Amino acid sequence: MRRKHTALAVATAFLLAIATHASQMAQSVVPDEWLPLPEGDITRIAFGSCAKHWQFQAVWDSVIEQRPDVFLFIGDAIYADTDGKTAWQVTEDSLRGDWNRLADKPEFQRARASFPFMATWDNHDYGSHAGGADFPLKEESQRVFLDFFGEAPGSSRRKQSGIYDAKIFGPEGRRVQIILLDTRYSRGPAIRDLRSSGEKEALGIVGNYLPNNDPNVTLLGSEQWNWLEKQLYKPAEIRLIASSTQIVPDEKGMDEWGNYPLERQRLFDLLEDAHASGVILLTGNVHFSEISRKDDFSYPLHDFTSSGMTHVNESYARKHNKTRVSGPYVGINTGLVEIDWETGASPLIHLKTIRLDGAIAFERKVPLSELQYPR
Ligand SMILES: [Fe+2]
Repeated sequence: MRRKHTALAVATAFLLAIATHASQMAQSVVPDEWLPLPEGDITRIAFGSCAKHWQFQAVWDSVIEQRPDVFLFIGDAIYADTDGKTAWQVTEDSLRGDWNRLADKPEFQRARASFPFMATWDNHDYGSHAGGADFPLKEESQRVFLDFFGEAPGSSRRKQSGIYDAKIFGPEGRRVQIILLDTRYSRGPAIRDLRSSGEKEALGIVGNYLPNNDPNVTLLGSEQWNWLEKQLYKPAEIRLIASSTQIVPDEKGMDEWGNYPLERQRLFDLLEDAHASGVILLTGNVHFSEISRKDDFSYPLHDFTSSGMTHVNESYARKHNKTRVSGPYVGINTGLVEIDWETGASPLIHLKTIRLDGAIAFERKVPLSELQYPR
């Protein structure tokens, strides 16, 4: 009898444990609502890229401490097509499963409960390593991505070719425009660099691509170019233009705007034609952080790169970048753009790379008065 009781107690305890675990699992699923984007002005914009969704992501607690008004996830928020060793073809279901795996992470849930997000993708969250316009699942991937980030059912982002997005925050005199480009959906073919790794190493090249000078090959696609032109003619004091891949540095041969020289020149020309002042480019992808600067432009054009929220790459950082003015920092990091409107004669834009422990890896102060067209 006693034995029976014990067996019953063990069985009850076991069932209770399962029920408790199940309810904890249910609680761990994030609510469908994301925090809304701020209505007023914004002064702290954090961003980052490249986060393996199966790894513990301690970096989110560092971002929470920064108290950003918004976080820009600018590519490789999940690695849907690879585990870093092998690659496979994704399906709509596998994409959803991988996004859900990110959603289930307690550290990501803490982040999502602390600040709102805006997001664009790079190759691995798009779903294909070399994926561009020819990726057969691009429509499905767009739907899954926008579902995950809580885009409204009737949103124009669900009808356009790709997930590019823009919003202007703050009142006149303190307007910050955030533009997120889509560098995957319409991307034409890149040219593979077939030289041996030894040959490339000797030349300081780490990537697999060569510049494609074909005028018929696009990176953003005509629909996004037309949209971008309209955005740049809207008035704003500061414009943060985010791209998953680097725009100014072009010597690594990695996935970068330099592989599409005509498209890159089109971007620079468009900025000049629109007299878009106050532009800072925000980029990712390379698994380290640096700030590059284009000096043959009407004003110093900064490309602030932050990448590596779960992993970094020393050898990428070692490659030559003649346009680098700050960094590199090779350690888990996120970027922070802090705007000080009140200081001195000109508002000051602080570009800070933040380490995993919350300390500043490096910082660059850019007066807004220097990012203007000559009158
Ligand atoms: Fe990445």
